[in-house]
Amino acid sequence: MSWTFGSALRARWGLDPNLRYLNHGTVGAPPLAVLEEQWRIQREIERQPARFLLRDLAPNGMPSGVRNVPHLREAVARVAAFLGARGEDMAFVDNATTGIYGLLRSIPLEPGDGLLVADQGYGGVNNGARYAARERGLALQTWTMPTDDPRPERLLDAFRAGLKPNTRLAVVDQIHSGTGLVLAVDAFAAICREHDVLLIVDAAHVPGCIEVDVPALGADFWVGNLHKWAWSPRSSAVLWCTPPRQRDIHPAVISWGLDQGFAEEYDLLGTRDPSPHLTAPFALALLAEAGDVMGHNRDLARAGAEHVAVHVGGALLGEPSQWASMVPVLLPAELAANPEEARLLKDCLLFEHHIEAQVTWLPQGACLRVAAQIYNELEDYEALADALRTRL
Ligand SMILES: Cc1ncc(COP(=O)(O)O)c(C=O)c1O
Repeated sequence: MSWTFGSALRARWGLDPNLRYLNHGTVGAPPLAVLEEQWRIQREIERQPARFLLRDLAPNGMPSGVRNVPHLREAVARVAAFLGARGEDMAFVDNATTGIYGLLRSIPLEPGDGLLVADQGYGGVNNGARYAARERGLALQTWTMPTDDPRPERLLDAFRAGLKPNTRLAVVDQIHSGTGLVLAVDAFAAICREHDVLLIVDAAHVPGCIEVDVPALGADFWVGNLHKWAWSPRSSAVLWCTPPRQRDIHPAVISWGLDQGFAEEYDLLGTRDPSPHLTAPFALALLAEAGDVMGHNRDLARAGAEHVAVHVGGALLGEPSQWASMVPVLLPAELAANPEEARLLKDCLLFEHHIEAQVTWLPQGACLRVAAQIYNELEDYEALADALRTRL
């Protein structure tokens, strides 16, 4: 039976009861039941740590494996099914940053080839692109996101305008970090194919936020976090690679699996705790049991954003097809007129009003990324609007 959504569900999370948590996606927040499953798996590992981690975990376990299907392959197949993909085309990585960075360093390119990122792409990923470009002699190129009016066609036109004759690889967010807007990455993939450009989709916020059939997007590489909206413990993410490209890529860290095949390369990267990855299938099952979480979050985030916009004189960015569980509200300049004031506003919400909410800075001004999870209620957004109004 599906759950009754609302603030009573906070009891299923470990969140501070005195805090209004309106930023679920930022680092994720797994339900307590998921953490208990993770602890159960950790206890199982500790019964025979060497056997679990070296023989049974990965296909390239150093001594001969004992299980028919190694633990990581079993878990990734279940996550892949949730994302419309085949387990053999997917591997666990620690987080979106690490997964994408390994791709940026290993996708075969020649010095002088262009690597295209968005000017407002995620800072950590763009830094990885900058470093990879520096190391490999690539030309780092940027396209300018029209966040003043980010309708789908304008985003595509801006991306097209950013492509240069030497562009060979691009990174595009499926859900843009600064605003929470959903980008039509299938259309970006079609443009890339036309121009002979490989595409990495940065889907850090996607699993559990929007429905997705990864292979159908037409991209070459796709990396999504499970620890944000898919309720999995930190750190857990997956990387998907189209079959013909799998032998070309390598993880950010090289270990025993070098040149042994895709799963072999990614599944055993030195000694680490695999419990976040192994818990992911349980987290996805719980998400399904809860009911229409994605639909609920989309509707609540929109209602919350509309409430805030009306009460503080802000404007929603984008259009309904681009909104999921995070909806951007451009705030009036009286609330924050520069990046430093935007940062102070975020601090003020947390430290004076006990509200955790994301405030980012766009060229147009401060952007409140209004997010919803099933433990939130409209009353949370009323409190957020009231808190903001005290600053007007
Ligand atoms: C678009 C995008 N890419 C990458 C990341 C980084 O995710 P992680 O810190 O899990 O690597 C984020 C995090 O919010 C993001 O929004």
